[in-house]
Amino acid sequence: MATSQTSRFSDYRSKRYPPAQRSQTDPHGKGYQLKNFSRAYRSWLLPYIKSRFRPGAFRPILSFLFTDINCNLNCHYCYSKGKKVPGMTMETAKDAVDWLQSVGCKVLAYMGGEPLVRKAFIIELTRYAEEKGFFVYLPTNGILMDEAFIDEIGKAGVAAVNLAVDAVDGYKGIPKALCRIKSNFEYLVQQEKKYGYLTFFNINITQKNIEDVKVLTEKAHEYGIATDYHINEPPIIKYDNYEDFQDGAWITEKEVQAVDEVIDWLIEKNQQGYTMVNSLDHLRAMKRFIHHQWPPWSCRAGELSMIIRLDGSFAPCFELYGAEENWGNIYDGPKFDSLKLRHQKKACSPHCLSTCNFQVNHYTRGMLYSLQWVAKHAYGSFLGTS
Ligand SMILES: C[S@@+](CC[C@H](N)C(=O)[O-])C[C@H]1O[C@@H](n2cnc3c(N)ncnc32)[C@H](O)[C@@H]1O
Ligand code: SF4
Ligand code: SF4
Repeated sequence: MATSQTSRFSDYRSKRYPPAQRSQTDPHGKGYQLKNFSRAYRSWLLPYIKSRFRPGAFRPILSFLFTDINCNLNCHYCYSKGKKVPGMTMETAKDAVDWLQSVGCKVLAYMGGEPLVRKAFIIELTRYAEEKGFFVYLPTNGILMDEAFIDEIGKAGVAAVNLAVDAVDGYKGIPKALCRIKSNFEYLVQQEKKYGYLTFFNINITQKNIEDVKVLTEKAHEYGIATDYHINEPPIIKYDNYEDFQDGAWITEKEVQAVDEVIDWLIEKNQQGYTMVNSLDHLRAMKRFIHHQWPPWSCRAGELSMIIRLDGSFAPCFELYGAEENWGNIYDGPKFDSLKLRHQKKACSPHCLSTCNFQVNHYTRGMLYSLQWVAKHAYGSFLGTS
């Protein structure tokens, strides 16, 4: 699909909402920054501080809720593509939010599959969680997003929209392309100030989109939005029905050098003040990871973060969605055994650089780190870059 990158990228430049109208350092002014700072403070920092006063209790600060496993796209690296299973019921979803509230968690991130396969469901649930004071993250491939949905989810109080875009024009097996969502992306950014949410590009670095990573990063910077990067990883669990496993665009020896260089470039951009979810430590860890030099690390999944599956059952992380172990559910409570998990992580963590769990670990190392995370939500790197 993609051929000459740069010529197409300049065609892409917005005519309806030119990025030049937005300032890089203060895109929406102090009111917007203050709102995001205080929302992040209430939903991330306070629950974390409270959890430290109750060391024996299970007090996750971040939970992912799988509302649907089904998806409208077919990313070859993802085990969710093309699934046809019933989604979570609204009753289970609201019970999950209530349970999270009962354990002091205030950050609800949808996960899937593609949440927007049921847009009305997501709008209703966001309204429900926001009224209870949750910071609601919406990750989406954006294809089903339209202006009416953006206004509805904005009114419902979504706090962050994590727009997954891997390429400018797309490749075989890498269908999340900016060209497919151009006008709705621009509308999403244009409406940020009105509704007070943050927008991120979420970019999975694979063997096919290495050059696109740079272009999407510059594009995000032009539009004044943040970026979040993952290294494309083969699944930890072998799924029987995952027929694209051989063709998942995993990074091989052939691409390691180019990916290494692109990560160096991202580190430079981070140091120049480009707003990135990833800490510098995470970007540096990516370099070791692709060279297979990444040791076991202290992932806090099943402790400070968790996932809730379609049926309300728990697991520590997405990577272990398909595991058969009983980790509890929203009705019977958690059954995470921290000693056992610590042991399991010695085996899985050298093969997994989970972006969200790495950030959870990084930003809970001390109060200054935690404050830095909150500051990032206010969009200014006023405590310095990460
Ligand atoms: C599973 S998707 C679900 C939400 C939505 N459909 C989307 O694409 O963002 C969430 C994130 O997981 C990432 N992801 C999926 N499979 C992955 C893999 N094998 N390695 C790294 N990241 C992966 C996607 O790129 C996406 O950013
Ligand atoms: S990464 Fe997201 S968009 Fe792609 S197949 Fe998986 S769930 Fe769908
Ligand atoms: S390292 Fe953490 S996030 Fe990754 S598979 Fe293991 S428990 Fe899950």
